[in-house]
Amino acid sequence: MDIKLIQAQVVIIGAGAAGLRTAIELTSQGVDCLVLGKREHGDAHTSQAAGGINASLGSLDEEDDWTLHGADTLREGHFICDPVAVELLARRAPERIRELATWGCPFDRTEEGAINQRYFGAQSFRRTCFVGDRTGEAVLETLVERAKELEVPYRQNVFITKILTEDGRALGALGWDMETGEALVFSGAAVVLAAGGCTALYKRSSSRPGENTGDATALALAAGAGLRDMEFIQFHPTGMVSPEELVGKLVTEAVRGEGARLTNTEGERFMERYAPEQMELSARDVVARAIAEEVSQGRGTKRNGVYLDISHRDREFIQRRLPRIYDRFMDNGVDIANEPMEVAPTAHYAMGGVKVDFRTGKTDVEGLFAVGESTAGVHGANRLGGNSLAETVVFGEVTGAYLAGWVEGRERPEITPQAVRGHFEELEARCRQHGSEGAEELIEELGELLEARAGIVRTKKGVAAGIEELAGLRERAKNLKIYTRPGSTAFVRMCNLDFMLDTAEVLVEAARMREESRGAHFREDFAETRPRWKVSLVGRRDEKGALTFERVEVGGVPAVLKEALEREVELDYHHLE
Ligand code: FUM
Repeated sequence: MDIKLIQAQVVIIGAGAAGLRTAIELTSQGVDCLVLGKREHGDAHTSQAAGGINASLGSLDEEDDWTLHGADTLREGHFICDPVAVELLARRAPERIRELATWGCPFDRTEEGAINQRYFGAQSFRRTCFVGDRTGEAVLETLVERAKELEVPYRQNVFITKILTEDGRALGALGWDMETGEALVFSGAAVVLAAGGCTALYKRSSSRPGENTGDATALALAAGAGLRDMEFIQFHPTGMVSPEELVGKLVTEAVRGEGARLTNTEGERFMERYAPEQMELSARDVVARAIAEEVSQGRGTKRNGVYLDISHRDREFIQRRLPRIYDRFMDNGVDIANEPMEVAPTAHYAMGGVKVDFRTGKTDVEGLFAVGESTAGVHGANRLGGNSLAETVVFGEVTGAYLAGWVEGRERPEITPQAVRGHFEELEARCRQHGSEGAEELIEELGELLEARAGIVRTKKGVAAGIEELAGLRERAKNLKIYTRPGSTAFVRMCNLDFMLDTAEVLVEAARMREESRGAHFREDFAETRPRWKVSLVGRRDEKGALTFERVEVGGVPAVLKEALEREVELDYHHLE
């Protein structure tokens, strides 16, 4: 087997906003880095983030400031966010937004020319900046252009299957060219995981097919890093329910931010019962649970959904502020300026991920860094909409800036083909198995299992059953029927299955252990939030490969954020009526 060696000072796995912003920082500081993407430059999952990006610019609500943004983030994270991360996010988001605007991001503007801001759920003020309902795409396009201007090296069609470590230190990454099947070794003084999250583990998710498959969490776990807060999965309240190929796809929160109302099949605006103050703009976990409750009480549609109605707004307004949603529904025979959409919750974001020090991006493994949705700690038990895009650019810059100093003078590791041949040969051999199981079917079953056992509402019995069922899937996954070549679609599916099973194991174990309800983790048998659980669970593999967990205290809240948490701020939602 030919094995190709490629060297860079920093190897970045993932080409979405987090990876690109890291690379832009490194390149600006003269560090040689290489960005690896599964697809063409600009074709990354960031494009799916629709409604906006948060920063306390105060364009419309002058009273807003970064401390209130931080306080909202902590509160909605149910106080298990890393306060250091929250402070960095809230403080630095305005600077990053202005930078994106300078680089050409076409943010919507107010009549006075300021960057416009819209309502998003559970926030004290309008602080979500937007480009219609294609904000992620516009941010990504801006970063791609900037990266191209700076000539940031990019390699497409790369699928990474292992972080190479020696004596607890990352030396590089092993992968495959998906087009040619060539075995690739990327060696670097540092490796950055910017490979997204894991919500495609669920059957109904807002992810694109084959993305958010837990690559970063599985790769980090195998390399010896800890995973934090994995039990917290965000279910976005409004995903599509039809047609088949669009089930779970996002109906952006911006629709509610622009005034849409949720009703059940009896025509009731049911959020009045669950959250009379914030109504449709309550935190996502609250709205998703309310919909689940309506459905379970028999007030949902046949497809287990409810209705979302923005038809009281002018057509011209809807087309301007929500063009993608307008077109997508119109293409499927629903004129949202005249009739409601049918929606249901969909797995959207993993608050859990790789444990890092947010000041540096360092994981527990020397030389291995992580950034963006691959990490855990910014959002705690529940993320505010609009904070994920903000996180990518804020921590991309922080990590890149730190790394630029960290790699200076460090030797690139020498890796010989002999040292890595075993991994490639093992995977190549797995491409020809004469078993009886299909990877696609197992992925499907895993999705159903997680939805049933670790979904919006969880129980002790259900999660325990899920753990057993998962062990069964693992056994069956050893018996695949497959005949393919490395790098092919079937190969990628087989590797995705491995990543997903590894990630799911940590998720369900953590969901079993956390005997309380907090944010997105709702246990019917422990419906209250318990002070003793104001900790993060960090899972890792021991030397024998068994999962172990530790409870990690979250840091103290800085005084400036404590003060902001105590401030009485009232958001007037009547603008929306
Ligand atoms: O609903 C949305 O547009 C999603 C945004 C987010 O998750 O931040």
